[in-house]
Amino acid sequence: MRIGVLTGGGDCPGLNAVIRAVVHRSIKAYGWSVVGFRHGWRGLLQSEVEDLDLKKVSGILPRGGTILGTSRTNPYQEPGGEARIRQELSGRGVDILAVIGGEDTLGVAKKLHETGVRLVGIPKTIDNDVNGTDYTFGFDTALSIATEAIDRLHTTAESHDRVIVVEVMGRHAGWIALESGVAGGADMILIPEYPVSVEEVCDVVRRRHERGKNFSIIVVAEGARLKDEGGTVQVQSERRDAFGHVRLGGIGATLAERIEERTGFESRYSVLGHIQRGGSPTAYDRFLGTRFGVAAVDLAKRGGFGRMVAIRGMKIVDVPIAEALGSPKTVDREFYELAKVFST
Ligand code: F6P
Repeated sequence: MRIGVLTGGGDCPGLNAVIRAVVHRSIKAYGWSVVGFRHGWRGLLQSEVEDLDLKKVSGILPRGGTILGTSRTNPYQEPGGEARIRQELSGRGVDILAVIGGEDTLGVAKKLHETGVRLVGIPKTIDNDVNGTDYTFGFDTALSIATEAIDRLHTTAESHDRVIVVEVMGRHAGWIALESGVAGGADMILIPEYPVSVEEVCDVVRRRHERGKNFSIIVVAEGARLKDEGGTVQVQSERRDAFGHVRLGGIGATLAERIEERTGFESRYSVLGHIQRGGSPTAYDRFLGTRFGVAAVDLAKRGGFGRMVAIRGMKIVDVPIAEALGSPKTVDREFYELAKVFST
């Protein structure tokens, strides 16, 4: 048996832990050979491949990014994409594919599986917004980075009596903003799920000043919307990627400007951007990635094609890939209410 593995979409810390686990489990438990396709679906379209063995994955566990490279290539936007993938798989003698990706990559996996490709899915994203699983690896690392950044911004905001707006990632869901904001003691947290107005933010800042607090930290997810600023997401570029996504960004700057205009308090903003996706994964992400990798190979061995591994509570389970698709896993009201305790 020969298993292929690929990583698609935005990278995230913990991908190498998964690749390593897939290689170890496949070779040691089942005697399978492993081949890696480079740059996500692009590797299958352009024959970018490399054999993977125990030596190749030695030392990669603490490394960020993905040794296979990644891309946002969508084979369904490429001429004859589906047929070319099937050809590449059979030409290389690959029986099974392990697809590591978020909603877009898994969406392609589902379609391919419906044409008879034998594959299993492994959900990833720092945004933690993939449905069907409680957590995706990469999220914990992004959360730690964002929390540390908030801690650092606190001391400079306090020293200068400033409002600092921190813009974090989170396209459809505010998990990073909410959890890092609560962990970092933010004074207000804005997430895509619950739009607020600039005036509500200004009120929080004003109330803090009345209480003698001359600085504030506001955490905002890039996908959040301001009710009184058109209620739409702010984009850096209208150009769409192969899955139809525009590049988000700008709400942090807008918010800081409006707060200063309306309250008179000096304001700054900081955009964490890809810093949240880079660098070494936390122990949690290495452990979860490893569990996912081993479980995905076992799932393939059992013939659980068209399914993906997931974590529910403490347990690794498997669910149809379709569960991850359609709508993002958004922040529950209960979590949002928790954050609100500290902004009133
Ligand atoms: O991986 C998801 C994500 O981190 C989103 O939060 C963000 O909008 C997007 O990736 C940015 O992706 P890119 O690497 O294409 O700029």
